[in-house]
Amino acid sequence: MTYLKLEVTMEKSVVLVIGFWLLLLGNGVQSHRQDKKHQSLPRDQPYRTGYHFQPPKNWMNDPNGPMYYKGVYHLFYQYNPYAAVWGNITWAHSISYDLVNWINLDIALSPGDPFDINGCWSGSTTFLSGEKPVILYTGSDTMNRQVQNLAEPKNLSDPLLREWVKSSHNPLMSPVDGIDPKNFRDPTTAWQGPDGLWRVLVGNEMDGHGRALLYRSQDFITWSQSKEPIHSSTRTGMWECPDFYPVSIDGKNGVETSSLDKFTKHVLKASFDNSDHYVLGNYTSVTDNFLVDTDFLDNDSDLRYDYGNFYASKTFFDSGKKRRILWGWILESDNTTDDVKKGWSGLQSIPRTILLSKTGKQLIQWPLEEIEKQHTIKVSFENKELKGGSVLEVSGITASQADVEVSFSLSSLKEAELMDPSWVDPKLLCSQKTASVRSNVGPFGILVLASKDLTEQTAIFFRVFRSEDNYVVLMCSDQSRSSVEEGPQKTIYGAFIDIDPLNEKISLRSLIDHSIVESFGGEGRACITARVYPKLAIDNQAYLYAFNNGTLDVNIPTLNAWSMKNAQIVSSTKRRKPNLN
Ligand SMILES: *[C@@H]1O[C@H](CO)[C@@H](O)[C@H](O)[C@H]1NC(C)=O
Ligand SMILES: *[C@@H]1O[C@H](CO)[C@@H](O)[C@H](O)[C@H]1NC(C)=O
Ligand SMILES: *[C@@H]1O[C@H](CO)[C@@H](O)[C@H](O)[C@H]1NC(C)=O
Ligand SMILES: *[C@@H]1O[C@H](CO)[C@@H](O)[C@H](O)[C@H]1NC(C)=O
Ligand SMILES: *[C@@H]1O[C@H](CO)[C@@H](O)[C@H](O)[C@H]1NC(C)=O
Ligand SMILES: *[C@@H]1O[C@H](CO)[C@@H](O)[C@H](O)[C@H]1NC(C)=O
Repeated sequence: MTYLKLEVTMEKSVVLVIGFWLLLLGNGVQSHRQDKKHQSLPRDQPYRTGYHFQPPKNWMNDPNGPMYYKGVYHLFYQYNPYAAVWGNITWAHSISYDLVNWINLDIALSPGDPFDINGCWSGSTTFLSGEKPVILYTGSDTMNRQVQNLAEPKNLSDPLLREWVKSSHNPLMSPVDGIDPKNFRDPTTAWQGPDGLWRVLVGNEMDGHGRALLYRSQDFITWSQSKEPIHSSTRTGMWECPDFYPVSIDGKNGVETSSLDKFTKHVLKASFDNSDHYVLGNYTSVTDNFLVDTDFLDNDSDLRYDYGNFYASKTFFDSGKKRRILWGWILESDNTTDDVKKGWSGLQSIPRTILLSKTGKQLIQWPLEEIEKQHTIKVSFENKELKGGSVLEVSGITASQADVEVSFSLSSLKEAELMDPSWVDPKLLCSQKTASVRSNVGPFGILVLASKDLTEQTAIFFRVFRSEDNYVVLMCSDQSRSSVEEGPQKTIYGAFIDIDPLNEKISLRSLIDHSIVESFGGEGRACITARVYPKLAIDNQAYLYAFNNGTLDVNIPTLNAWSMKNAQIVSSTKRRKPNLN
């Protein structure tokens, strides 16, 4: 059975690989394959990733207008063709058949017209009738005002949509009627109401507070601003990169952006304070009313996509596999000098599927299933007792480029530390109670990108606290010992996670890729992404451990870990630098 399965998989992948290369050959490919990983010689670029998306060089930030069109996934992103620092921002363009391997195409949008001369900034794609994709993006105009522009594919028969034409009607939306021209950006994917009108949101700030302006249009060219924003908050500053989309309450499939029925709730996401925050609510398209369940930063509610390093994200509906997929920008946490030296800055997260949880109170994220095609060598064990104060090496895989899934079960919860009601900030709590602070139940978890002697280590771990009528589970990502160098930021991140440790195992999955660790706790109920720059724990000098620094033993019912092979990221043409005047 297993053997048969293997054969089928191999056949499939051979066909896929041939298809991939044929397509490239037909396009005059220049290969920019990334350096071979895991050779014994030190690479000169120890922090470049193996299976995350990043361009060959230079600066990258927000994901823009991701979409699925005629069997091809498109990713556009904010890109500086000249340097590893922000500036001269264009829309770079890459395509994929599986969201893992990528072909870089020519830049899709470059500054050059009065309405975007100072930059082609973030935006989204929308499918108009007849499945015609269009781009709405923010331009920084001749007066450095932010305006919203339209671009359309030059040739709809080209499935790769290589060329884009800016509309002669640009700009479509300008900062008039008291809108702050410096804070008017990042249009969402538009959706169509039952009245046939298109609606789109634009991020904005008014009197220091965040809001999402609503515009409506019949023809996608002439837009009028609604009197009321769709939502606003007096507790936040500027909202960047808003996102607004339905999720199905049965928590099974993704939902197309315009779909509206009684089986959906709506998500509004806004990027502020270096995080992507979201609220859930009920949206009525007839009135464009959006009633939120719990507002941004209300009643200690702090719903975020990711409690670590993850910003300016965007979702899209994948009509092929009926799922909604989330992309996020992962910043560097070293400094600009380091970035210039490396020649690059910024990663995209592994795309995540996004669904409503069974409780209806939060979203659940999980790495795309396609990423599992990168699995190679596997090690696993079951039912292992981890004594209090012990460390267990997980050997046999490439610990610098790996996927790890582990679960923990606990028997003596009664002895858990008492929760203090004043501990409301999980990030602060994790930085006070680091991996070195021992209690009865925890810290336990994994040490990734660790040196053999543990001088360097990034600890992703849990603690359980007891309160009067329940237990509280804290998830932390402790970067304080991630590098022996002083330079990079070593912020410690934390999140409370909705797990009942009496009745369920505490699970963790971490995607490790040289300088990034994306961790999913409780099957995707809390995510924490960290960037780290180890000096010792690089390539084959990186190790992986499970650890329990609590005083009581914990059990590991299962642990599976895989080496991950490199994604293929190639360029179909030598990327031309745009001509800037
Ligand atoms: C932007 O482009 C101009 C013109 O090529 C170049 O001189 C400048 O250094 C670039 N700025 C950045 C920040 O890349
Ligand atoms: C449009 O794209 C199709 C498919 O790639 C191609 O055959 C056709 O020549 C293109 N048309 C133009 C005008 O470039
Ligand atoms: C949203 O709709 C659900 C189902 O009708 C309802 O239970 C809930 O109270 C509504 N939420 C708000 C904020 O109106
Ligand atoms: C905040 O909490 C109070 C007291 O528990 C409750 O009455 C109120 O409805 C909550 N507000 C929101 C927006 O959830
Ligand atoms: C466990 O705690 C001890 C004592 O605080 C500390 O020295 C050690 O580094 C901790 N282990 C890990 C894996 O953090
Ligand atoms: C940047 O960090 C490196 C070490 O990672 C340090 O040597 C350098 O002085 C730092 N530069 C600045 C401008 O802070």
